Amino acid sequence: MEKNIHPIFDRLLNRADREERLNQRSKVFWFTGLSGSGKSTLAQALERRLFNEGYFPQVLDGDNIRTGLNKNLGFSAEERTENIRRIAELGKLYLNSGIVTIISFISPTREIRQMAKTIIGEADFLEIYINASLEACEKRDVKGLYKKARAGEIKDFTGIDAPYEAPENPALEIRTDQLDLHDSISSLYNFIEPIIDYGRF
Ligand code: ADX
Repeated sequence: MEKNIHPIFDRLLNRADREERLNQRSKVFWFTGLSGSGKSTLAQALERRLFNEGYFPQVLDGDNIRTGLNKNLGFSAEERTENIRRIAELGKLYLNSGIVTIISFISPTREIRQMAKTIIGEADFLEIYINASLEACEKRDVKGLYKKARAGEIKDFTGIDAPYEAPENPALEIRTDQLDLHDSISSLYNFIEPIIDYGRF
């Protein structure tokens, strides 16, 4: 081969190269559910479990996104859409880095989640419904926000005076008002592991 020709495919590091190095198939697992349904708790426990089993996962949630990249965004319909748009674009970058990406946001409407799916790509987007009834979430009220929303101190609160549309056909549903943390993580792990296992494809 001509000495000074460096074909582009030698320089371009692609997703498959990274997946091979990380010994996993990358996907986006998109958690949706009400505030207080357990999304972040499950996402973080799942991340730890996957890591302990030898996978290389990353969670994106309110803790690391709404405090940083998206700290200029509130909770109007427009700002939620922009929140999710940026998160989906970020998720796509993680996906192409070969990382098992767990994304955990209310993402309250079918339209918003459809946008995320379109950005990420249908084949790589798995919707997981973290389902606890509004009553159960409100009863827990871990952050005290439902109380404030009921008192009118917070406006546009999901489930109170802003919509939440449950997924119609999620890849997986976890009923956190029926399962404990241990069983929820087992269900999640058993669902996810065959999908990201490098050896099976
Ligand atoms: S999303 O609708 O844009 O997807 P996101 O998941 O980022 O929402 O943020 C939800 C978290 O923000 C809630 O768990 C809660 O702690 C906090 N929050 C503050 N104001 C609101 C509100 N008006 N509606 C819902 N959640 C809110």
